[in-house]
Amino acid sequence: MARQTIGIIMNGVTGRMGTNQHLARSIMAIREQGGVPLGDGGVIWPEPLLLGRNPQKLAALAERFGLPRWSTDLDACLGDPAAQIYFDAQVTSARAEPTRRAIDAGKHVYVEKPLADDLETCLELARLAAKAGLKNGIVQDKLFLPGMRKLKRLIDAGFFGRILSVRGEFGYWVFEGDWQPAQRPSWNYRKEDGGGIILDMFPHWRYLLDNLFGTVRRVGCVGATHIPRRVDEHGEPYAATAEDAAYAAFELEGGIIAHFASSWCVRVYRDELLSLQVDGTEGSAVAGLWQCKVQHRAGTVRAVWDPDRPAPVAYRDGWQDVPDNQQFDNAFKVQWERFLRHVGCGDPFPWSFLEGAKGVQLAEAGLRSWREGRRIELSDLTL
Ligand SMILES: NC(=O)c1ccc[n+]([C@@H]2O[C@H](COP(=O)([O-])OP(=O)(O)OC[C@H]3O[C@@H](n4cnc5c(N)ncnc54)[C@H](O)[C@@H]3O)[C@@H](O)[C@H]2O)c1
Repeated sequence: MARQTIGIIMNGVTGRMGTNQHLARSIMAIREQGGVPLGDGGVIWPEPLLLGRNPQKLAALAERFGLPRWSTDLDACLGDPAAQIYFDAQVTSARAEPTRRAIDAGKHVYVEKPLADDLETCLELARLAAKAGLKNGIVQDKLFLPGMRKLKRLIDAGFFGRILSVRGEFGYWVFEGDWQPAQRPSWNYRKEDGGGIILDMFPHWRYLLDNLFGTVRRVGCVGATHIPRRVDEHGEPYAATAEDAAYAAFELEGGIIAHFASSWCVRVYRDELLSLQVDGTEGSAVAGLWQCKVQHRAGTVRAVWDPDRPAPVAYRDGWQDVPDNQQFDNAFKVQWERFLRHVGCGDPFPWSFLEGAKGVQLAEAGLRSWREGRRIELSDLTL
C-alpha cells in the first residue's frame, strides 16, 4: 500500500486548541487509524513537527505523544523541505507574520480562525497564497459538527419549506478567575491582545450562515463588557478591555433573518452550548453540537396566550429527534483529512483563506455597527 508522508509544521501546538483538537484528536487520531485513506488503497501519513516558544512544554508534548521532532525556531522549520504544510493555532494576533513567511517559503497553509486581526491582512494573506499557487485553508469546524450536519440534511431535504429565521444562542459562564479559575485564556478578554467575543465568534457565524442559509449581507450589533475585571492564569487581576457578549441581527441574501446572542456571561439553560433554532413555513428545527430536534407543521401545537394559569402543554415534548444514521468523527479531524487530501491529491477544499477573510469582514462590520449605532452592509470580497 503506497504511503505518502506529509510533514506539517504545527505552530502554537501547546495551546488549548493546538494540543486538544488539532494534535490529539486530529493528527494523532489520523495516525492511530493508519493515515488518511485514499481511494486507490494508499494513505496520507501526517508527520508533525511541533513548533512553539517554550522548549519545556514542547518537549513534554512530544514525549506524551511519542513524537521525535519539535523546535522553537520558525526559520529552521520553514527551511525543512519535508514540511509541506504550515499550520497555525497560535493566539490570533501572532498568526499573520509567520503565515506570511510560510507562504514566502512555499508551504501550503492551514490555520485556525480568525485568519488575522483585520480584514486587510486577511485579504493580503489570501492573495499571497493564491499568487504563489499554494493550497490554503481555514478551520471551519462547526460545519462538521453532528448537529449542524443533521441540520444540513433537513435543509437539503426541503424540510423547512421557506426558511424565515434563525435564532442562535451561544455561550456559557466563564469564571472570572477569582474564586474559580477561568476556563478560557485571559487574552480573550483583552482587546490589545486580539480578544473579544465578536472577533472570536462572528467568523463561525459567518461560515455557518453562508453555507447553510445564505450569504450575510447586513449586520446590526450591540456588544457589551459585562464583567470589567477578571483574574488571569497567574492570579493577577486585570481590566477586561474587550467585549464579552454581543447581540446581533444578520440579514441574509434571500431574506432570512438570523439573530445571535453570543455571551461568556450566561448560565446555560439549554441542552448544548450552541443552539440554532430554524423556523420555516413547513417545519422548525433546533440543532446543537450533537442533537437536532424537529417539529413539523402538522405536529405544531396550538399555543394560546393565557398568563393566568400554568402552561397547559409541555412544549418541548412536541419535538422529535433527528436520528444519527451515520458515525460522526471529530469535526476538526474531518476537516484535517479533507485538507490533507487537498494537498496530497488535489481534492477540492472550498474553505480557503478568502472564506476566512469573510469571517473577519463580518467581525469588523459587527464592531463598527456597535461603535456607530447603525446597520452595516457587507460588500463582496474578491482576490
Ligand atoms: N475553531 C474553534 O472552535 C476555536 C476555538 C477556540 C479558539 N480558537 C482559535 O485558536 C487560536 C488559539 O486559541 P486557544 O484558545 O488555543 O489559545 P491558548 O492561549 O490556549 O493558546 C495560544 C497558543 O499561542 C501561543 N502564543 C504565541 N504567541 C503568543 C503570545 N504573544 N501570547 C500568548 N500566546 C502566544 C501560545 O504559546 C499557545 O501555544 C485562536 O486564534 C482562537 O481564536 C478556535
